[in-house]
Amino acid sequence: MIMMTSSPDQTRSLGRRLGRFLRGGDVLCLYGDLGSGKTTLTQGLAEGLGFKGRVTSPTFGLARIYHGRRWSINHLDLYRIEPEQTGDIGIEDFVRDPKAVCVVEWPEAGRGYYPGDRLELRLSHAKGGRARRIRATALGPRSRDLLVNLRAG
Ligand SMILES: Nc1ncnc2c1ncn2[C@@H]1O[C@H](COP(=O)(O)OP(=O)(O)OP(=O)(O)O)[C@@H](O)[C@H]1O
Ligand SMILES: [Mg+2]
Repeated sequence: MIMMTSSPDQTRSLGRRLGRFLRGGDVLCLYGDLGSGKTTLTQGLAEGLGFKGRVTSPTFGLARIYHGRRWSINHLDLYRIEPEQTGDIGIEDFVRDPKAVCVVEWPEAGRGYYPGDRLELRLSHAKGGRARRIRATALGPRSRDLLVNLRAG
């Protein structure tokens, strides 16, 4: 499924719509270059999950935990993390947390830790300016359901 947004607000709003369908155990991997909108999308996801505060980039903190209405949000950023380090930061506990939705920016280094059924979102700059292209790939039945809901809602 391919989506386009033309402003940060539109990207947040897409995240908000998807966020409403998420539940504990869901894992979302957000791929894309610097500034492609991963954190902006996560702000929307957290809003959709009922979190009222500010979501900031965890780049140098690696992980932040937000509390939504019903589920927590484990927000990870593995930028500049080497695959050998992922065990040390306890990625497994963040990813396999049944009470939390786990959102991972720069997920490359964590390969091998993610559940088979996850949603992959690839963000990229499209024709300059504020346009972004977001390609969603569902890797199992649960994530396929999420996309069906997103398309319908
Ligand atoms: N359509 C859009 N969607 C999302 N962000 C946009 C859009 N248009 C412009 N922007 C701007 O692009 C930047 C995206 O930054 P953001 O922190 O979300 O990216 P990121 O992918 O998380 O980057 P990083 O890899 O550094 O973590 C913001 O400054 C945002 O205002
Ligand atoms: Mg970011």
